[in-house]
Amino acid sequence: MLIRPRRLRRTPGIRNMVRERSLSVNDLVQPLFVKNGKGIKEPIPSMPGQYHFSVDTLTEEVKELRDLGIKAVILFGLPSKKDSIGSSAFDDDEAVQRSIRAIKAKFPDMVVITDVCLCEYTDHGHCGLIENGSVHNDSTLEILAKTALSHVKAGADFVAPSDMMDGRVAAIRDILDKNGYCDSGIISYAVKYASAFYGPFREAAESAPEFGDRTGYQMDPGNSDEAIKEAMLDIEEGADMIMVKPALPYLDIIRRVKEKCLLPVCAYHVSGEYSMIKAAEERGWVDGKRMMMESLICIKRAGAKIIFTYFAKEATVILNK
Ligand code: PBG
Repeated sequence: MLIRPRRLRRTPGIRNMVRERSLSVNDLVQPLFVKNGKGIKEPIPSMPGQYHFSVDTLTEEVKELRDLGIKAVILFGLPSKKDSIGSSAFDDDEAVQRSIRAIKAKFPDMVVITDVCLCEYTDHGHCGLIENGSVHNDSTLEILAKTALSHVKAGADFVAPSDMMDGRVAAIRDILDKNGYCDSGIISYAVKYASAFYGPFREAAESAPEFGDRTGYQMDPGNSDEAIKEAMLDIEEGADMIMVKPALPYLDIIRRVKEKCLLPVCAYHVSGEYSMIKAAEERGWVDGKRMMMESLICIKRAGAKIIFTYFAKEATVILNK
């Protein structure tokens, strides 16, 4: 007798029934870039299919996403002005804060998550304040907390700090609680690697550092124990969910974090992962749609519950068929 695992694969009905993980629109978060102005929908050259929106066109896009069944978006802002401390980040009249209010006024059920970081808002492009030529952890915490509070006041459901300063989850939890926002949550980018895969995003968000790099605060790609330590600390500080970023080169990390932490794990399928598929597809070298769906299911198989991906809209169109 020959044992034949193939029997479970041959009939599509059975193959679908025995599949261990599936992808659903409930798993996907669409990142969106917003700037000041009106009537803007500018393509981002390094990320085909992604745009810079103004608040009005962003709201139209959110309607489309909602009609498709997408439940959540994460917002990134391009401010009108940058300075050394990133003060536009906590300006209630900036693009992100206005977008949150606009989305919530029209679509209260759309989950709005905001990225909390300073790199888009500082003139030097680093994620925190600079003292003596390098990013100063503790003085950055206050600005991050103020930023998170301004997002939540505007109506954000979750804030997602992506700066990698130590102690920022506690600082944010503290300011939200003191101001009565006990029910607003924190998705911590606890496990964020210093990655070349963020390249297209930095063009899209105009956030490349003016000098140096982010290896002083983001994680070393050779490390894995450190990921557990970062995740555990952020959970103690009050994180509601943990994010691993990037996704595909770090599937082992997603799995380890998921096994250790009894919280939903999110994965950020980042700009470089998106643009690689788009670029190869444009050349006719790969089947981009299949690569997209395969990437997303593999991220789920590794243990992620929620995937932040620029493919959210495109994948949902396929899932809905
Ligand atoms: C920091 C931030 C970055 C991304 C999300 N939040 C960039 C960075 O750390 O340089 C990257 C996302 C992507 O590449 O898609 N605000």
